[in-house]
Amino acid sequence: MLPKKNRPFFSTNLGNAYLGDSLELLPQLPESSVDLICTSPPFALLRKKAYGNVHSNEYVDWFLEFARLFSKVLKPKGSIIVDIGGTWNKGFPTRSLYHYELLLKLCAPVSEGGGGFYLAQELYWYNPAKLPTPAEWVTVRRERVKDAVNTVWWLSKDPHPKANNRGVLKPYSEAQKNLMKNGYKPKLRPSEHNISNKFQNDNNGAIPPNIINGHDEGEIGDLVAVNVISASNTASNDKYLRLCKEHNVQPHPARFPRALPEFAIGLCTEAGDTILDPFAGSNMTGHVAESMGRKWIAFEQDENYLKGSVFRFAPNGTDSKVENDVKVEDDIKNKFAQGTLFEKPSKKYKVQGKQK
Ligand SMILES: C[S@@+](CC[C@H](N)C(=O)[O-])C[C@H]1O[C@@H](n2cnc3c(N)ncnc32)[C@H](O)[C@@H]1O
Repeated sequence: MLPKKNRPFFSTNLGNAYLGDSLELLPQLPESSVDLICTSPPFALLRKKAYGNVHSNEYVDWFLEFARLFSKVLKPKGSIIVDIGGTWNKGFPTRSLYHYELLLKLCAPVSEGGGGFYLAQELYWYNPAKLPTPAEWVTVRRERVKDAVNTVWWLSKDPHPKANNRGVLKPYSEAQKNLMKNGYKPKLRPSEHNISNKFQNDNNGAIPPNIINGHDEGEIGDLVAVNVISASNTASNDKYLRLCKEHNVQPHPARFPRALPEFAIGLCTEAGDTILDPFAGSNMTGHVAESMGRKWIAFEQDENYLKGSVFRFAPNGTDSKVENDVKVEDDIKNKFAQGTLFEKPSKKYKVQGKQK
């Protein structure tokens, strides 16, 4: 948490969201106080987003300034899980290498001007709902295929960061369940891997691959990594979009699917740990952290996005289509009007504009 002089924009039981520039807020956080930084900065995109994007030529230097501050606030065994989408070179059907250049720089020694991090693992976010752009290369000339994967760099200060893949197990496939039930004859695979009878052990779930499957269209998300919670994910995002619309707040245009922070938090932290998102946007990270019993800190420089992010914490029961929907919605509106929508409402927080 920041010192008391920095009043949070809003607070919940486990977290605080602050309005401001992370470059100014990060130095105020105590050193070695954060277990995980899970975030998605603005990318170096060809088409500018509403919240601004840095050009790919300047991106590495721009990000490195943040990375040095991340290193200070991270605990020695802490991790950074950062979603960095790729982009195209302007005017050509060729890909920019900026996110790989960034990775190399982040993992270069501090003495050589780098970030001094280790690459713990590359993760990939598969987003099947991504549009087939740039249209010129994908849908008009048909020279390229749809780009539907973001690279997600998992970085750490120690070669053995705090991590436990038991926190992200996925349900066993039917084939694996059959194998555990009916037995398996140990044998050498064509790849020469020796499959022992340990494959028959039930370890409460399968170790997931490094592909996080989730998309944004109402953020259905989460089909591979932790697919048991995909239904609740859809519901919570519906709540976010619905309440944004109702209170005339612009929803964030590039939200995380629930699956991404859920995977990162499940893998690298345990209950009670602290997660920071320094580019919080709609604060999916904080919302997921809270639901997983972790403390969270969100920094976001755009007030409008923080206003919308408050809706993620609207009380349970408002996030699913229940029979008595109207009553539930009225209840939220009343609570909102009375300032009691949240457990600890910030006096500073007031929704501007139309309120039905
Ligand atoms: C890609 S979006 C993050 C979206 C987020 N993951 C979500 O689920 O909604 C990046 C966000 O970083 C914010 N941002 C950019 N530079 C910032 C800075 N220096 N300090 C704080 N926030 C910043 C932008 O306003 C934008 O909302």
